[in-house]
Amino acid sequence: VAVTRLEVTPGGDAERAYPIFVDPDEAAEERLAERLREHAPGARIGVITDENVARLHLPRLRPELERAGAFAFEVVPPGEATKSLGVAERLCDRFAGELDRTGLVVALGGGMVGDLAGFVAAILLRGVRYVQVPTTLLSQVDSSVGGKTGVNLRAGKNLVGAFHHPVLVYADIGTLRTLSDRERASGMAEVVKHAVIADPGLLELIEAKAADARAGEPQLTAELVARSVRVKAQVVAADERETSSAPDGGRARLNFGHTVGHALETAAAGTDHPLTHGEAVALGMLAAARVGAATGAGEVTLETRLRELYPRLGLPVDLDGWLERWREPAGPGNAPGRPTPIEALIGVDKKREAGAVRFIVVDRIGSTRVVRLDGPRLREILLGEKRR
Ligand SMILES: NC(=O)c1ccc[n+]([C@@H]2O[C@H](COP(=O)([O-])OP(=O)(O)OC[C@H]3O[C@@H](n4cnc5c(N)ncnc54)[C@H](O)[C@@H]3O)[C@@H](O)[C@H]2O)c1
Ligand SMILES: [Zn+2]
Repeated sequence: VAVTRLEVTPGGDAERAYPIFVDPDEAAEERLAERLREHAPGARIGVITDENVARLHLPRLRPELERAGAFAFEVVPPGEATKSLGVAERLCDRFAGELDRTGLVVALGGGMVGDLAGFVAAILLRGVRYVQVPTTLLSQVDSSVGGKTGVNLRAGKNLVGAFHHPVLVYADIGTLRTLSDRERASGMAEVVKHAVIADPGLLELIEAKAADARAGEPQLTAELVARSVRVKAQVVAADERETSSAPDGGRARLNFGHTVGHALETAAAGTDHPLTHGEAVALGMLAAARVGAATGAGEVTLETRLRELYPRLGLPVDLDGWLERWREPAGPGNAPGRPTPIEALIGVDKKREAGAVRFIVVDRIGSTRVVRLDGPRLREILLGEKRR
């Protein structure tokens, strides 16, 4: 059985180190249960999952989790709306009488469940231990590692939260079998991001085996997850709370592709053409590559290289089509009454850093640096508009 064990040492603090297991083999649920018993012997366990994961994977996992001490399986509706203070409160109420400080919360699901359950664990009794069992590619390579937990507010996503690291992450590759092609592609965008910012060999591997990656071949997927997690673990070890002012951006370099990506994702939400997070990030990385090349700070061949790779992974390349839609206050890619994505982008960053948009660019594959641009310069690069 080829289970990979990695470790993350938040902020370089060995006392808080925790293991991440990547398990591509059959009967992973038995090994997961063993790890739970080893990490929290005799603990009472409250499991949080969503309806999709419960339907698809709980039948297999439940008996083993019960043997490890699970007394409650709280099944929440899927979707971002569940990541709320109201649901977190309800879950805290549910667990308060049954879990003491030695108890354990298990997050079984994608990033939505991981963020919500991690947040419940962070605030319940001022903090109980929790374990991440991520079931989407995105959550295995990204959200389950690094200790960011939280819920959404009406005012915006992830606005309430806490840093609270899990004691263990168990990535059961078998759970990914039931992902849709689109969800798998979306997760691959974050793998590509990790490769581009920190691991040139990983990018070559993805390029060599794109078809197998797209198909979710388990051994290859396990390797991609492990290498991707290694990148995230290294970044979190160096700059746990994203406070570094290092020229490479510190933890902020995980935001590569996310400045424009986020603006696109928000603008497309609720329209006839919504983008998944990963699709938006894929487009955002093309934009960041273009910004890098235009400012002279970035690797000039990156945009072309990504454009060749994306279709093989099922990711979009139509950045210019989306940018075209950016000009319209309300159009096919834009819900009526919302600011255009470019306005949203510049508006948001205005509040944060006096009109300058902070961009992570890749100066060569595997290495990043921060550049600052004002709104007009960004429009000039991305929309081809001359500054006035
Ligand atoms: N904490 C962090 O550092 C961090 C980083 C990135 C993203 N996030 C958060 O992660 C969330 C996105 O994560 P996500 O993409 O995993 O979304 P998600 O958890 O909403 O899952 C996407 C969909 O896939 C379903 N699903 C989950 N596992 C499945 C499986 N094995 N088979 C079939 N369907 C399955 C879910 O029910 C859901 O419908 C967002 O809330 C985002 O804010 C957090
Ligand atoms: Zn992301």
